Amino acid sequence: MKVMAIFGTRPEAIKMAPVVRELLKHPEIETKVCLTAQHREMLDQVVDLFQLPVDYDLDIMKQGQSLYDITDRVLLGLKEVLEKEKPDLVLVHGDTTTTFSATLAAFYQQIDVGHVEAGLRTGNMYSPFPEEANRRLTSVLTTLHFAPTETARQNLLKENQKDDHIFTVGNSVIDALLATVKKDYVFEDKELQDIEEHKRIILVTTHRRENLGEPMRNVYRALRRLVETVPDTEVVFPVHRNPLVRQAVKEVLDGVPGIHLVDPMEYEPFTNLMARSAIILTDSGGIQEEAPSLGKPVLVLRDTTERPEAVASGTVKLVGTDEDKVYNTAYKLLTDEKAYKEMAESINPYGDGHTSERIVQAILYFYGISEKKPSVFIAR
Ligand code: UD1
Ligand code: UDP
Repeated sequence: MKVMAIFGTRPEAIKMAPVVRELLKHPEIETKVCLTAQHREMLDQVVDLFQLPVDYDLDIMKQGQSLYDITDRVLLGLKEVLEKEKPDLVLVHGDTTTTFSATLAAFYQQIDVGHVEAGLRTGNMYSPFPEEANRRLTSVLTTLHFAPTETARQNLLKENQKDDHIFTVGNSVIDALLATVKKDYVFEDKELQDIEEHKRIILVTTHRRENLGEPMRNVYRALRRLVETVPDTEVVFPVHRNPLVRQAVKEVLDGVPGIHLVDPMEYEPFTNLMARSAIILTDSGGIQEEAPSLGKPVLVLRDTTERPEAVASGTVKLVGTDEDKVYNTAYKLLTDEKAYKEMAESINPYGDGHTSERIVQAILYFYGISEKKPSVFIAR
């Protein structure tokens, strides 16, 4: 059978890379890779790291692109690719606009869709925006749902998806993470090398559309106060390439001592920096999944999360974007050893490193190529 993986942003690439590498091990599957390139540099970093063979590249990214731009360019770009290749199954990942548009493009040609990381829900269509809608719309048009956790599976069942079309497989981000975090990793970047060993690193990332503007500036003001008031801390902040994020960062954080503003980092140094950090402040989805495996407390700069598992086990806290709340919560974690220890427990609610194997096994089983059912991922 022919399977085409379609993805376009950094997190989709990170999570799809181990799946593509696993597909390539199977001669009974012809594997094709199509990039939409909704992201450019941030996507290419991942494609290069995992040495993914690329068959098509729609190269759609524009500076400051709107949701209409992405939807339109992906949908039309894929029309030709799908007409030419006629895959039996299209694999999409997660909840970006690439995910939904690629799903729609496949549906218009009556091609089956396999959705990796299916079933995540906040219940609020505007948070995160537009991701909650993207993943719901994708589920409606999906044949094979790869739910990372039992909670995600239950969400899909509540929406009347068929049980035998859902496979609980874990999240492939943990496959990627385990392949890149190394003991005694040495950073090539001089700025990171120069951070003294006794310093505690506060790692920060922000990019959510609903946080652009004042919510982001609030968070940045809290960061300034943290490095000024908590001894031995430094902030490392790889700044997303979105021009609106860059503008807000520049306004509040440019030139502040103890705050390192760097470009988006390659995946390998980034995961090793997570492992070296004391705490993480982020509005990212993927980082909420990775950090618990590394035992790193995460303060999530959002009001909702579609990843409740690590909140339930205590490694992740939702703090939103109120300046005082972000500051006070981080301050307590960095100055109260007991509070820190309570959150810094290493747990693996999202994966065990075997998700990609389960996904490929599920494809082979579902389409009658193999009789072996994939195992079910159980969090430990
Ligand atoms: C997108 C996804 C979001 C995902 C995030 C991961 C949508 C609507 N949003 O948000 O779900 O969490 O990716 O990071 O699908 N840019 C570059 N180079 C790059 C990447 C981005 O210059 O390599 C700049 C461009 O000006 C681009 C802008 O960032 O227009 C925004 O990119 P876009 O993909 O529209 O939104 P993200 O915030 O990255
Ligand atoms: N990441 C990275 N370099 C960075 C920041 C993040 O490689 O400078 C990785 C991170 O480890 C995670 C993914 O990018 O796997 C998360 O991407 P992002 O936060 O952009 O998107 P989201 O997960 O929120 O959709």
